[in-house]
Amino acid sequence: MSARIEALLKRMTLAEKLGQLSMSAAHDAITGPTEAHDLAQAVRQGTVGSLLNLTGRERTRALQRLAVEESRLRIPLLIGLDVLHGYRTLFPIPLAEAGAFDEALWERTAREAAIEAAADGIALTFAPMLDVARDPRWGRIAESPGEDPWLAARYARAKVRGFQGAELAAADAIAACAKHFCAYGAVCAGRDYAPVDVSERTLHEVHLPAFAAAVEAGVASIMPAFVDVAGVPMTAHRRLLRGWLRDEQGFDGVLISDYHAIAELLRHGVAADLAAAATLALKAGVDIDMMSPAYREGLPVALERGHVTMDEIDAAVRRVLTLKERLGLFDDPYRRGAAPEDAGAIARRRRLAREIATRSVVLLKNARAALPLGAAVRRLCVLGPLADAAAEMGGCWAAAGRREASVSLLEGLRAALPQAELRHAAGVAIDGDDRRGIAAAVALCAGADAILLCLGEAAEMSGEAASRACPELPGEQRALAEAVLEQARANDTPVIAILFSGRPLIVPWLAERADALLAAWFPGTEAGHALADLLTGRVSPSGRTPVTWPRAVGQIPIFFGQRPSGRPADANDRYTSRYLDVPNEPLFPFGHGLGYGRFEYSNLRVTPAIVGARDTIRVCVDLANTGAHAAEETVFLFVRHEVARVARPLLELKGYARIALEPGARGTAQLSLPAAELRYPGPDLVPVFEPGAVEILVGPCADRARLLVGGVRLRA
Ligand code: NOJ
Repeated sequence: MSARIEALLKRMTLAEKLGQLSMSAAHDAITGPTEAHDLAQAVRQGTVGSLLNLTGRERTRALQRLAVEESRLRIPLLIGLDVLHGYRTLFPIPLAEAGAFDEALWERTAREAAIEAAADGIALTFAPMLDVARDPRWGRIAESPGEDPWLAARYARAKVRGFQGAELAAADAIAACAKHFCAYGAVCAGRDYAPVDVSERTLHEVHLPAFAAAVEAGVASIMPAFVDVAGVPMTAHRRLLRGWLRDEQGFDGVLISDYHAIAELLRHGVAADLAAAATLALKAGVDIDMMSPAYREGLPVALERGHVTMDEIDAAVRRVLTLKERLGLFDDPYRRGAAPEDAGAIARRRRLAREIATRSVVLLKNARAALPLGAAVRRLCVLGPLADAAAEMGGCWAAAGRREASVSLLEGLRAALPQAELRHAAGVAIDGDDRRGIAAAVALCAGADAILLCLGEAAEMSGEAASRACPELPGEQRALAEAVLEQARANDTPVIAILFSGRPLIVPWLAERADALLAAWFPGTEAGHALADLLTGRVSPSGRTPVTWPRAVGQIPIFFGQRPSGRPADANDRYTSRYLDVPNEPLFPFGHGLGYGRFEYSNLRVTPAIVGARDTIRVCVDLANTGAHAAEETVFLFVRHEVARVARPLLELKGYARIALEPGARGTAQLSLPAAELRYPGPDLVPVFEPGAVEILVGPCADRARLLVGGVRLRA
């Protein structure tokens, strides 16, 4: 209890209290209904206590000044923004960054994003986004750490540490907001904002662990998802918000609604008017109403009706003021944004952006040693609508990043290969039906040493409100690719296809016909330099896909953590779990990603053979780099309970290690797995450590055929 906050509470009018519970948007980004009021006036009157979508040091400072110098109680504003993968300097989109499988790096990029945003007066980011996403139709898969709950939990911890730093009050720390609580990734048919209906078990095994991890890491705030889960909108989900989050996990931070979500309870059909909507949200534990009039206008009515109490309102206000206090805003509201950053900080951040971008790109295929481009490469054909598309490189949540400030692939190649002749044509636009540029693009291919075919989506085709029923190459890009592939085959020129996208794209034909295929995702500000580093072989690719790539839309959702079937697929038996028209196997499994080395695994050791819940399992495997280049391998550790009271997934990720080896070198990857992590939610969802045999599977990706198998026995 803070004396300052209690004293303030005593002096506050109802309107001022509700102001602290209301967040308004300045108009830098509009993603929903807008408000009619004069923002500056509302800040002066104390009827708005926090803001979003405001950028720039002068502007944040000017509004903060109104709050602390011209409002009656001088309560500082909480200024938030979606700083998901960078503020001005853009790192790769989260889905890409997840593929680096590097917690230290995830933390460093969040730290740098926080420093940069804080230098502009931002004190809160609506990140990390922790929705486990298994449906590439859903555009928001781009913002997520991918399909795996264990990975999402590791990512959650790293990001919270990075954004919040060691001390939330520090001038370069910002509050994190874990979102979207929960199960938003499971929207029906991948359509954004659609209903979610998942089992209680799936909630506990898949969607809740990342939030538990965020709470454990001390996350300052959490955002309930827009959607309903089995009929109960998350904004009003008392059992999950108050029950699970606050009571069970001990979360005592601030719950911030999503944009206009409290008012949207009317459209969900669970509230008849704003007062009822506000009552549901407040009772569920939501403290801040983002961009809806529900708290401001509805709570006074709810009070009058006796549906909420002043104590309930005070409790929410207390949590909001406590966050402002923890952020140090009462002591010095201008500590963030006090001085512009120096050039050294900006240069350091760009170096990091280049490093993480090189670590995020996934080399999906590399036949005929098409990559790296040899030192002798003289004539390169750089084709496709994403080849020189700086404005797209930032991806879907570009915060305050200046889109055109990113480096396109063409620019990166020019810098890396000043002697080479680079021939460029877009051929077609990203979308649309104009094929007239194809012939000229194909004509450029004659005499080229290699063709780089840069294809994919526009940045705005993923992210919020960007679901795609057919997540394939849009527009006429396939026509361009087919024409180029045809020509290249005739001339025996290698084709390296580079995909820019916010999701895995369904491109089995391209994966088959291109010599090399890279998933660049959206690599951020340093896109072109990072890709040039990889293509030229200055750096060996090491990114791994954190999400399974389907070969057909009908396979979705497809993920490695599926449970077994009583009738597992058998090509010789019709009555088994399979499709008549496509294989069950994905185009690329989770974890897949090549480098310029070639790793061979041998000699898996798992000790001890029998473990209790307090023991640690040690897993070692030998690796040899039999390729011609130095490279880094990510070694995955999966487990499988052979027999349990509840059928367990065919593979569960429980660890990874990275090992770098020179060509011809050998090494050992060592992983340790606390046996307690083999607990799972038992038949009644209470975690159990069930005696029995557990397979330990180690290898390069979630393809059982490529894993070495050992095992342990769990004892009671
Ligand atoms: C809506 C999105 O769902 C959420 O992720 C974001 O933080 C808010 N808008 C604010 O921009």
